Amino acid sequence: MSKNMESIVSLCKRRGFLFQSSEIYGGIQGFWDYGPLGVELKRNVRNAWWHDMITAHDEFLQPDGAPSTFEMCGVETSIIMHPQVWKCSGHFDLFCDQMVDCKETKKRYRFDQVRGRWVSCTYDSAERPSAEKIFVTSMSETPEEDVISRALAVFGLKRKYADKLEWHTDLISLDKLSADELPRAVAPDVQATGTFTEPREFNLMFKTIVGALGTAEDAAFLRPETAQGIFVNFKNVLDTARVKLPFGVGQIGKSFRNEITPRNFTFRSREFEQMEIEFFCHPDSSPQWYQYWRDRRMAWYKDLGLAGERLILREHDPDELSHYSTGTADVEYAFPFLPAGEYGELEGIAHRGDFDLRSHMEGKLDENSNPLTLQLDENGQPKWKGSGKDLQYFDDQTRERFTPHVIEPSAGADRATLAFICEAYTEDEAPDDKGEMQKRTVMKLHPRLAPIKAAVFPLIKKEGMPETAQQIYRDLKRAGVNVTYSQQGAIGRRYRQQDEIGTPWCITVDGDTATDNAVTVRDRDTLEQVRIPIADLTSELQNRLQA
Ligand code: GAP
Repeated sequence: MSKNMESIVSLCKRRGFLFQSSEIYGGIQGFWDYGPLGVELKRNVRNAWWHDMITAHDEFLQPDGAPSTFEMCGVETSIIMHPQVWKCSGHFDLFCDQMVDCKETKKRYRFDQVRGRWVSCTYDSAERPSAEKIFVTSMSETPEEDVISRALAVFGLKRKYADKLEWHTDLISLDKLSADELPRAVAPDVQATGTFTEPREFNLMFKTIVGALGTAEDAAFLRPETAQGIFVNFKNVLDTARVKLPFGVGQIGKSFRNEITPRNFTFRSREFEQMEIEFFCHPDSSPQWYQYWRDRRMAWYKDLGLAGERLILREHDPDELSHYSTGTADVEYAFPFLPAGEYGELEGIAHRGDFDLRSHMEGKLDENSNPLTLQLDENGQPKWKGSGKDLQYFDDQTRERFTPHVIEPSAGADRATLAFICEAYTEDEAPDDKGEMQKRTVMKLHPRLAPIKAAVFPLIKKEGMPETAQQIYRDLKRAGVNVTYSQQGAIGRRYRQQDEIGTPWCITVDGDTATDNAVTVRDRDTLEQVRIPIADLTSELQNRLQA
């Protein structure tokens, strides 16, 4: 089944998963609010990550594929940090995207996100001489179609003359054009060439002011990644948690990036949440740890339901790697808003060497890993001065002192949540109250992620059924199972309402319950109905949730 993004977005809004931020004021681009069901779903994604990576980790067991046993712990660090953190991390100087403006519409675009095709025309028109090769661009979600319509409009041709267009390339991004070619591009929403400006660098960090004085020295930044909060606390964790190498420190928290063109629902937002691990290890074993973490993180998504060919692990080409990195792989998912064959990043697993710890110790490093500490800023202060603190590790067994290497699995909680929503969205058929097959929309979310685990219904609103159903509802809630209750409408309709929000099980109290003390439990995916004694219900659901 090919999935339609519009239907998914509409369900998310209609059933209270996701809303546009500040919607009553017309919204604000790149910001999203999670509704009553969305907040449960995203919390379940975060909880699954924290449980599986941090709290459930057994430091005495060597997991399959791991070079040794290891320890895991967590931190929660502040969003605003000392500005020097971002100088040493490289974000102050390098965390930039290239942007172009359209001089006519005043719209701003990320250089690599504008896509288009070289085209000429074999038919002279009043608008344009034939044979002039121009680059027609589009920012549409379906650029293939849009570029054709736009090229026809630019050449002043009716659709029946589409065969007069001569295409010279498939869709390519604007940043593939040379400086000489850029003036021959037609920007989105205009019909003339030459309205794009030269590309310029744009730093993605949000600036803010700390304190009441508001001077330039009080400028600070909202963190663009949670990772740096872990690096600057490396020594604190080492000294207080009594951990020994190898160990990992996890953090979940908000990050902020002033994305030039936020798009594709929550995929590219300006405020989003990250789930990051910095795994510290000996340089000699770091290649094996890199391998371990890329396989483990890929398996995590698969276990939670992202299956088959839609999920891939893409190893970066050597020329894509930072100078300090010996490997980076992305876990990618074929989101329905992407053209066929394209994937969007869910998580990057990077071998970061000793770059971050050394930068925070010695000052920012150059491409040869030499500190840049001696360069001065406009106030005569060292530009990239490190903390000067010793962030090395001393191994008291081998008596070796060294700067640990780092493997960084860095995931996005919102992107993972969106991928789970897209994967779960299914349209199929199920019998209605009369046993006739009817179309249904069902979210086949993994039970661990489902916002509501079970719905409890009395078959009818009399004969003591509501009272029994409410007691079951109460008992399950008390046992920590998130359940809902409904007594309105035909039972088939109630099933469908729950299917649409991904509730794995519906529990019905019926006419037999008073005599057999049992209820019918219906499975969302198999539609199978089984009779379960009320006394066993809580443990049965808890077992199913742990399966
Ligand atoms: N510390 C490394 C780091 O931040 P990244 O690839 O820039 O690496 C990691 O970000 C993850 O954070 C991405 O794989 C993605 O899931 C999420 N992410 C990054 N930018 C995002 C955005 N604008 N909106 C939503 N999620 C984003």
